[in-house]
Amino acid sequence: MKNLQLSKEGKLKHFLSIEGLSIELLTEILDTAESFAGLPNQQVKKVPLLRGKTIVNLFFENSTRTRTTFELAATRLSADVLSMNIATSATSKGESLLDTIRNLEAMHVDMFVVRHAISGAGHFIAQNTAPHISVINAGDGQHAHPTQAMLDMFTIRQHKQDFTQLKVAIIGDILHSRVARSQIQAFNILGVKEVRVIAPKTLLPSHVESLGVTVFNDIEKGLVDTDVVIMLRLQKERMSAALLPSEREYFKCFGLTEQRLKLANPDAIVMHPGPINRGVEIESNIADGAQSVILQQVSNGIAVRMAIMSLTMQSHGEQI
Ligand code: CP
Repeated sequence: MKNLQLSKEGKLKHFLSIEGLSIELLTEILDTAESFAGLPNQQVKKVPLLRGKTIVNLFFENSTRTRTTFELAATRLSADVLSMNIATSATSKGESLLDTIRNLEAMHVDMFVVRHAISGAGHFIAQNTAPHISVINAGDGQHAHPTQAMLDMFTIRQHKQDFTQLKVAIIGDILHSRVARSQIQAFNILGVKEVRVIAPKTLLPSHVESLGVTVFNDIEKGLVDTDVVIMLRLQKERMSAALLPSEREYFKCFGLTEQRLKLANPDAIVMHPGPINRGVEIESNIADGAQSVILQQVSNGIAVRMAIMSLTMQSHGEQI
């Protein structure tokens, strides 16, 4: 099946999902991000790669990290960036997503960065937008959060030499997590040795093993010998039924504590896409501790999103 996000030449035109991308493409994103990572240490934190381009951030769901780092990434590429306030936009008067897109297209936009509660919203926009426009998925429903997965891969690569030697554990609300889905796809493409998911049965999708993971319902067994420990937030806003007795009970059974972290390898890194709920999925001293790379993930979001934005624009065949 044709991958909507690739041009005829196999270049990244949109960035909607990790699924179907090659190891070469993921590596190109990571290498390009590497070239931007030193920019904050320069006196002028900008490059002219997207000068004259207009990027619109369309966030129909709340965000702190993704929205801000996309905005900073666009600014550092010298693009003109507009972050729409959906709450005060005509969406509140019943304007459809497609009509909003058509109107913004009429303002000569070059890229949409979209977060939406509905899975597939980014694909829908990419299918219905003008050919010169790139669409980047900043999180769609429970489906995908591909830029988060790439900044996580970038952060892991800064600490670990070889993806193929890694044992990775993803812990928590796998069922509702678009981040976990995108991470699992990226880990499998990059050839990670073992991807474990650790969660209560109620927070696992059915047939989760078919994603290429090993399932554990006991955190203490699942953490043994791991190199990367990824904690996830309980997404209560997406839970339609009571899937857990209580947050206290959840922390008792699945929370990351100092004692439990000792079961992982001594040089294991602790990650979390944020926002974190201290005392619910992770102990505060672990979140702020020496093994935590949570704030590095946030910083890396800028370089990785710069890479993805510049690569998708390049696919339009322009000299940038
Ligand atoms: N990781 C992440 O998507 O965080 P935000 O919801 O703050 O963007």
